Amino acid sequence: MEIFHQKKPLNIHIENLKQQGSSVGLVPTMGALHKGHLSLVKKALKNNDIVVVSIFVNPTQFDNESDLKKYPRHFNEDIETLRSLNNSVIVFAPSVDEVYENNVKSERFDFDGLENEMEGKFRKGHFDGVGTIVKELFTIVKPDDAYFGEKDYQQLLIIKKLVKKHEIPVNIVGCPISRESNGLAMSSRNERLPGYIRSQASFIYETLQKAKEKFGTKSANKVQEWVQKQFQNNKLFNLEYFEIADSNTLKTVKRKKKNETYRAFVAVYVNDIRLIDNIALN
Ligand code: PAJ
Repeated sequence: MEIFHQKKPLNIHIENLKQQGSSVGLVPTMGALHKGHLSLVKKALKNNDIVVVSIFVNPTQFDNESDLKKYPRHFNEDIETLRSLNNSVIVFAPSVDEVYENNVKSERFDFDGLENEMEGKFRKGHFDGVGTIVKELFTIVKPDDAYFGEKDYQQLLIIKKLVKKHEIPVNIVGCPISRESNGLAMSSRNERLPGYIRSQASFIYETLQKAKEKFGTKSANKVQEWVQKQFQNNKLFNLEYFEIADSNTLKTVKRKKKNETYRAFVAVYVNDIRLIDNIALN
């Protein structure tokens, strides 16, 4: 398995492989790899001859210095995990200086309003940071396909918008959410949860599932009130937001329409650890 830390040699290497007819998949990550990440890598390996996995904790998408500092980093373990998977994987693990060249700043993006909902509301500048790094990765790797998880559903829609607006020739592949056996959505941040909270975190997904059930017969408002009450009665998880939104525009649902599809989204805090999850409602 080859590991690159610099853009130029990686770009040249991939250009060569492409000239020999290899198709290239890209899986962008921030490392601390878990089974959710690996499900993306495995899917990419099925569809492409070569898969580039980037490992880069991108500073410009963090709105909080302490969250960036505490973000889990396990580079050596990640490398071993990927090495055991398949030798068609190429790792790209650049430094902040290599990516940003002494200008650690985001480009400003207009994602037609998607960036102003939910995560965008609560994490100022987050999607400018995501857009900046993902666009840069597309420029360096020029993949045929790139894989993103529905765990970060808003991010997935934003990346689709990014490639459409900037006419980047890459096929974006969305992948389903991988969960722990108790339903908790896998996340690099989960390892920071104390054991007793991790085992009770099934509450988050269970609440989403019940909300889905209720959405079949009740109004979005009623479901919203019910979910808020569940969180008020639970002292472990602090609700930041719960939203029922149109799956395409991410606008809050006022009144259900027959032919529209909807999703419920949640962000919660356990101490200073922030967890997100979502579920398709119809
Ligand atoms: P990170 O949180 O490391 O996630 C990398 C990719 O794995 C994302 O596409 C994310 O949606 C997906 N993923 C994470 N947990 C998942 C799960 N439980 N099931 C399925 N997919 C999951 O998302 C980022 O990094 C960054 O924002 C990035 C796109 C790399 C840009 O810096």
